[in-house]
Amino acid sequence: MAATQDGKQETSEPNFDYMFKLLIIGNSSVGKTSLLFRFADDAFTPAFVSTVGIDFKIKTLYKNNKRIKLQIWDTAGQERYRTITTAYYRGAMGFILMYDITNEESFAAVQDWSTQIKTYSWENAQVILVGNKCDMEEERIVSVDSGRLLAEQLGFEFYETSAKDNINITQTFQRLVDIICDKMPDTLDSDPAGPTGSATTKLTDQPAPPPQSDCSC
Ligand code: GTP
Ligand code: MG
Repeated sequence: MAATQDGKQETSEPNFDYMFKLLIIGNSSVGKTSLLFRFADDAFTPAFVSTVGIDFKIKTLYKNNKRIKLQIWDTAGQERYRTITTAYYRGAMGFILMYDITNEESFAAVQDWSTQIKTYSWENAQVILVGNKCDMEEERIVSVDSGRLLAEQLGFEFYETSAKDNINITQTFQRLVDIICDKMPDTLDSDPAGPTGSATTKLTDQPAPPPQSDCSC
């Protein structure tokens, strides 16, 4: 089934109303695969099996009674896969850029990852910076304030998460979908509340009660 660049469905097949392609990027071992497993399967494993190349999972969310199918690509953080993974940036509507709050190197690499997004992706792509492993407070090296400040400098939103303890996982994906919807051209045209009008719209993984009028997507 085809979807247009802005994610709108082209056929009448009742499988989804919108399809958003999202990418998770960041250094190896920051927890990209774990974040996706927690979100899609509500599971976590302490074993580290480094991703080879790229993989994806599908999850459907509901916003204003519309089905938003998320195609979420989990990229390998290892440098040797960079040519493969950057080929998937084009067409992505949103990125989760991750670092590990116990790993300084992964935080220092955020600037480079941001440059990769600007180089290879669609200019309207939305980005959320995520500091993962916030359950490991005793081994924390990157402060919450440092993460927030860097996100501000890069123009990204910011969350700290724990795939292990299921902290802020769904919220991160919901927020990314919300800001993608806010930037969609038809939403901007038809939304009397303006570009930020739907920022607080409830987005769930269950069909929603009757639609609200503040977002058309
Ligand atoms: P690559 O595939 O090599 O790019 O790594 P990745 O970013 O996908 O990392 P992965 O999800 O495989 O996680 C690496 C290790 O960190 C694994 O041992 C996970 O169990 C662990 N891990 C991931 N998320 C968390 C978390 O929130 N808290 C803790 N304590 N450990 C985590
Ligand atoms: Mg992985």
